[in-house]
Amino acid sequence: MVGGNDIRKKYLDFMAERQHAVLPSAALVPDNDPTTLFTGSGMQPLVPYLLGEPHPKGTRLTDSQKCFRAEDIDEVGDTSHTTFFEMLGNWSLGDYFKKEQIPWIASFYLDVVGLNPENFYVTVFAGDEQAGIPKDEEAAMIWQEEFKKRGLSHGIAHMGSAEEAAERGMKEGERIFYYDAKENWWSRAGVPENMPVGEIGGGDSEMFYDFDPSDSIHDPEKFGKFSHPASDNGRFMEVGNSVFMEYIKTENGFEKLPKQNVDFGGGLERIAAAANNSPDVYKVDLLWNVIEKIQTLSGKTYDSNTEAFRVITDHIRGAVFMIGDDVMPSNSEQGYFVRRLLRRAVRFADKLEIPNGEFKNLADGVIDMYRNHYTNLSEQRDSILEAIQKEESQFRKTLENGLKQFSKISLEVHLTTKEVDGKKVVDKDVPPVGKRTIGAKNAFELFTTYGFPIELTEEIAAEKGLTVDIKGFQKLMDEHRAKSRAGAEQKFKGGLADNSDQVVQYHTATHLMLAALRHFLGDHIHQAGSNITGERLRFDFTHPEKVDRDTLDKIEEWVNDAIKTGGEVYVEQMPKSEAENDPTVEGSFWDRYPDEVKVYNIKGDDGTMFSRELCGGPHVETLSDIKGTFKIKKEESSSAGIRRIKAVLV
Ligand code: ALA
Repeated sequence: MVGGNDIRKKYLDFMAERQHAVLPSAALVPDNDPTTLFTGSGMQPLVPYLLGEPHPKGTRLTDSQKCFRAEDIDEVGDTSHTTFFEMLGNWSLGDYFKKEQIPWIASFYLDVVGLNPENFYVTVFAGDEQAGIPKDEEAAMIWQEEFKKRGLSHGIAHMGSAEEAAERGMKEGERIFYYDAKENWWSRAGVPENMPVGEIGGGDSEMFYDFDPSDSIHDPEKFGKFSHPASDNGRFMEVGNSVFMEYIKTENGFEKLPKQNVDFGGGLERIAAAANNSPDVYKVDLLWNVIEKIQTLSGKTYDSNTEAFRVITDHIRGAVFMIGDDVMPSNSEQGYFVRRLLRRAVRFADKLEIPNGEFKNLADGVIDMYRNHYTNLSEQRDSILEAIQKEESQFRKTLENGLKQFSKISLEVHLTTKEVDGKKVVDKDVPPVGKRTIGAKNAFELFTTYGFPIELTEEIAAEKGLTVDIKGFQKLMDEHRAKSRAGAEQKFKGGLADNSDQVVQYHTATHLMLAALRHFLGDHIHQAGSNITGERLRFDFTHPEKVDRDTLDKIEEWVNDAIKTGGEVYVEQMPKSEAENDPTVEGSFWDRYPDEVKVYNIKGDDGTMFSRELCGGPHVETLSDIKGTFKIKKEESSSAGIRRIKAVLV
């Protein structure tokens, strides 16, 4: 087994021997690049230097760059896709060009890594007439020499487009293939005509590894008559790409850059997969380490559950690296992807029946594999594991209820009958199977109440043969954002000053206090008013007389004991009539609530139910989120039959 860490080291050493400065990986979140959320290729942090700015480390650079491609998240599950990956890179900033770089990279793949040369193929740029860019015969010739030297076949073939290539196929002895711009031109914006003015790019030469020389994998129905290197049929995997970055797009078309650059990138895991002659990148040690842990935890085999194993492994690794770069799970920008990764991983972990709390062990496995090269991970080990643990447990708490709610919604959507005059009749308005949609309101509620990222809702919906009204959802989200902005100005909505952490902590503490009041003073006590800021709670309740200090002390103690359990807070959704008739559910102002209501449950870690209360939220997700000790500062009369308490968390 050839290891990923070993290949990375050999590559950086190889380039260092050729006078390259070895750079540390830039962060996953680009410093000064508003055009993109994540670093998605090795060249991205180097764009200014490829455009001509001098680099402090010189004109030959190399690194292994951490990359994240959010757009690939839905592809994860097959043999080769991952959201996070490392890209080995080398750059010439106006220094060496094709005649140096191609022989080096050939030597690295064939001599250093030792890929089976019979399975190694390359493509080169066929030129683009419209853009006025010629065919790269130089690159083809240099490759040919490299193959000749090693006693390999070295035929050159013209393919053109991928469609033409599938018509033509590969002939005996051919190893070098010309493709047009769609396959063999690289810029961050793709083909020449899609590039904005000012963008740089160039023809490239890609390296492929053949995992299936017998061609048994090829499906002509899906991928055209014949296999060829750039086909997506699964036989070949791209393991490297040398971009000869010599053009810039201007108002007047393409011009040569002042200096000719090389931008090479090769996926580390893919190179390792080729070295092991197995197309499954998850079998590379960097990932396999986690797969093995999942096998132990779940008692299930990778082979019988490949998709779930791959999703969990990829997502946890991605989250570890993101958090290592200070991107915490949240609902904003980059943080949302970390949240999405972990929440999606929880769902797949559920499928494998991996118990709660194990993500940190899997994450630890990731850190272990990478600790020597990415020392920041081992330095931040504790905080990374804690963040992952917290996100896992928070989501698991709501997931079960969320899935229940989901089933309810999907049953309703699939219901094909309705009641007319007490009789069930076929509802003609229900669209046929395949056209049934989860409404925007339901999707929005799954997001706000159960923490389901919309993509998760879409995914589960698809499993049930449903689509989701995404447009409507986005509209509700926009309205919601506008409202929360307005809400911040219009204070004390629903008794809360805002939805800050502090206020939410006080809100949950208020529920506990009401439960304690009822516990010590009786069921006649209900809420009569509430006003909560980040500094204190003020609470009015129905009680005819002063509450003595002794009782207040007992109430304080009860609340603090409850908080100390670190128990969970979770929401249940039910018809209002059901909640109103349930003696364990406390509530006031019932007429202000809609027909379908939320009941917030606060439950100790030993299963004791501290409180069940009708409420619109928001609340903390676990009692350990409440910081400080609960203290009642004052108890006084508010109006006839109504008492008022002021309390703080200190
Ligand atoms: N920038 C080139 C790529 O990402 C090397 O393929």
